[in-house]
Amino acid sequence: MIVLGIESSCDDTSVSVLEDGNILSVATNTQLEHIGFGGVIPEIASREHLRFFPAVLEKALKDAGKKPEEIDAIGVTYGPGLVGCLLVGVNFAKGLAFSLSVPVVPVNHIEAHISANFIEHHDIKYPFVVLVVSGGHTELIFVPEYGVYELIGKTRDDAAGECIDKVSKMLGLGFPGGRIIDELAAKGEKDFVNFPRGMRNSLDFSFSGLKTAVKYYIEKHDPEFIRSNISNIAASFLESVTDSLTEKLFRAVKKHKAKTVLLAGGVSANSLLRKKVSEFSVKKGITFHYPHPKYCTDNAAMVAMTAYKKIMKHGIGSYSLTSELDAVPFLKLSEKN
Ligand code: KG4
Ligand code: ZN
Repeated sequence: MIVLGIESSCDDTSVSVLEDGNILSVATNTQLEHIGFGGVIPEIASREHLRFFPAVLEKALKDAGKKPEEIDAIGVTYGPGLVGCLLVGVNFAKGLAFSLSVPVVPVNHIEAHISANFIEHHDIKYPFVVLVVSGGHTELIFVPEYGVYELIGKTRDDAAGECIDKVSKMLGLGFPGGRIIDELAAKGEKDFVNFPRGMRNSLDFSFSGLKTAVKYYIEKHDPEFIRSNISNIAASFLESVTDSLTEKLFRAVKKHKAKTVLLAGGVSANSLLRKKVSEFSVKKGITFHYPHPKYCTDNAAMVAMTAYKKIMKHGIGSYSLTSELDAVPFLKLSEKN
């Protein structure tokens, strides 16, 4: 069974080829056009997806050593995400599916981030608690069995990755800020500034207070002081972000008596976050999974894996050839998938 995955929910144009549950190739064009703006510009992103999809598809097939006629099904992200970007991916998938006479499997982007864990770990045990933490999402989800998702906590304002990116911009460190802050923080003193931790008594998250606290801190000190203490400020900031994330994750694990914990999404590549969850898991005798860094940020391998798992569960006959599928920008992770 060969499944093609297609992802275009934000600024990554990505295509992947999967054969019988194993990823053969992933080709991704991460759009650099947004760097100068310090954030993703939706209109530019949609146009770039349109421009790059044919070449990215060609590369994914070539790297996998497969021909288009060998594809059995196409999985595509149809939400949540930027509507124009999703529309390009969905219509590209539908056109390709029509020309090849194969079905389209609609994929939820959040479920795909969770499925990224299954690319290298085929035997993850249910139930588990997963923290999906990316540029657009911060969600704590209890998964009692395959395809059942209970949302138990979410951000009330900014996503963790969004907060990291905005703080990176304030500190003049560039966009996206995750990797930069991750590397800088490793060289800094985490107790240099005591930044706040939001929503302490809840499973929900809040990062806008932290973002404002960093803004005021920058305004209160002269630029030279900020520059010479940049790694200490990054370390203190990241300590606050990861404390907030792990405090709630650990509480959720205890509440649901989960024996398995997962991280997913772009911020799950963060080394401090992984270290904290890893130490907790060892101490509590819990199994901890996280995706390979290349499958943490948006990619089509996680989409192909989600589609493959759906086909295995529901049968390929459950998916139609000429799907009425449309983009759903605010798609929720429904309870039954
Ligand atoms: O999952 P993703 O590619 O896009 C969304 O679905 O939002 O996540 C992108 C986010 C960005 O905010 C980026 O700064 C963050 O993931 N990120 C990281 C790291 N690598 C990427 N955040 C912290 N540490 C990292 N190493
Ligand atoms: Zn994502």
